[in-house]
Order: sequence, then structure tokens, then C-alpha cells
Amino acid sequence: MQVTTTIVEYQKTIEQTSFKNLKIGFVATMGALHQGHVTLIDLAKKECDIVVCSIFINPTQFNNPDDFASYPKTIDKDITLLQQANCDILFVPSVEEVFPKEQKLKTYSLNGLDLLFEGEKRPGHFNGVCNVVHRLFQIIEPQKAYFGKKDFQQLAIIQHMSNQLNLGIEIVGCETARETNGLAKSSRNLLLSEKAKSDAGIIYSSMKEAKSELEKIEIPEIILAAKNKLQKIPNSKIDYVSIAETSMLEPIYKRKEGQKIVMLVAVFVENVRLIDNLMLNE
Ligand code: PAF
Repeated sequence: MQVTTTIVEYQKTIEQTSFKNLKIGFVATMGALHQGHVTLIDLAKKECDIVVCSIFINPTQFNNPDDFASYPKTIDKDITLLQQANCDILFVPSVEEVFPKEQKLKTYSLNGLDLLFEGEKRPGHFNGVCNVVHRLFQIIEPQKAYFGKKDFQQLAIIQHMSNQLNLGIEIVGCETARETNGLAKSSRNLLLSEKAKSDAGIIYSSMKEAKSELEKIEIPEIILAAKNKLQKIPNSKIDYVSIAETSMLEPIYKRKEGQKIVMLVAVFVENVRLIDNLMLNE
């Protein structure tokens, strides 16, 4: 694997005869890599000629400075894992490389997709995500880009941005990788104690129960039952539990024929904010 830290270095690398004119699959990350990232790389490997990964903790998507400061950093382990996963090129830029001082951040029009859930709880978060993803797309120039479905709203927003700006990049969503107790794999899990990781399995079981109740009880009751279950996680606080239709992410309270719906959950466990989701009717 070739490791590059500047745009010039990346461009020189991609121009080498062994990489030139090949189909690039791109996996953008903030590091602290885990099996979920490997799933993205594996799919990119299957569908493209080469895989480029980036590791960049994007300051513009954090609305809370403490959250930014405490974001896990495991660069040496990340490099080993990327080598094992057969990543071809790693791009690890500085903040100045991605966001030069003279360049202003863009404001993206996201059709209201950015106003609910994560967008409501973390103002400016999605504009920051769009700025970094758009910028990385311009640098890496991939044909396909892979994102995890764990960040359901992020995936919808990146898909929207890419279509809106006609970027010509295919956005591929990949299934959420889970621990054996169902906890979604996430870089933030590194901040949890072993006990909290085990307790947080309730997040997935509460969503699975919701799915199994879908034909039996009404949406508000399903949400209430999930909240009651989630409240049993020690040292936790629910941020939101909602059921939404999947196109505009509008919360729903009554099901409509043919509507695809998803349960979206955000819970603080030991003060670490965990998000997850489950499609309820597919
Ligand atoms: O999902 C993430 O890790 C980040 O939001 C992303 C897409 C790499 C942008 O910084």
C-alpha cells in the first residue's frame, strides 16, 4: 500500500503506470478502523480495480469541540489493517491540505434532509460532511464511493449531494457490521467500557423487536416499547428514537401502503453517542 499525505503526492501516485486509468473505489474514513470499514474495502475491491482510503478527522463536521478532541486515533493499527485488507493507496492529509485557509467552506442545499435527527441534534454537521466528502471526491476522483448504512442519514445526504451536483460518482451503501450481541461496529465503540459494549447490544435488540411488532401494534406504541427497552441500558440517555419514511426521512406515526420505513436511534451510553438504524419492512 502506498501512503500519501499531500494532493500532489496522491496525484503522482495515481499517475503511475500500475494505477493509471483504473477504476477507483473510494472509502472515506476518520480512522479508528474496524471490521465495518473492512466490509467497505472488500466490496470496493470486488467492484473496482483499485481501492483508495482516506483517513481524515474532519473538524468541520464536529459541532462539539470535546467530541472532536476525544475522537479515537489509532493510525498505526489503521495502517496495518488497511495493508491486510489490500487497500492500494491511503490518503492521510493535514487539515490545511483539505481545507486551505484561503478557501471558504461551501453551503450545501440538502432539501431539508439535514434538518432532522443528526442534523437537528448536531447543527452544521452535515454541511461539514458534505464539504469534506465533496473535497475528497475532487482530490481522489473515484468512480465509486462506499459508505456504511449505519450512518443512514449521512448516506442519504451524500447520495443527494452527489446527484444534485452531478458528480458522476456512484454512491454505494454497505450493510452495517455488528458485534455478536448486535452492537453496530463504530469507531466510537473504542470509547466504551467492555460492560457498556455488552449492555449496548440492547440497541439492536430493541430495533429487532420493533420490526417484529410492526404488523401487530401502531407506530407510537412501537416507539414507546423501544424507548422502554433502551432505558434499561445502564448509564445511558436516549437522544431520539423515531420511525421515518426512507426518501425524505419524514417521521411517521401511521403506516401508508407501500412506504419503506426505517427505525432511527441515537443513545448516549457512558456519554458516548451511538447511532443505529434498522429497515422495518424489507
Ligand atoms: O462516516 C464518516 O466516517 C465520516 O462522516 C466521513 C464520511 C468519513 C466524512 O468525514
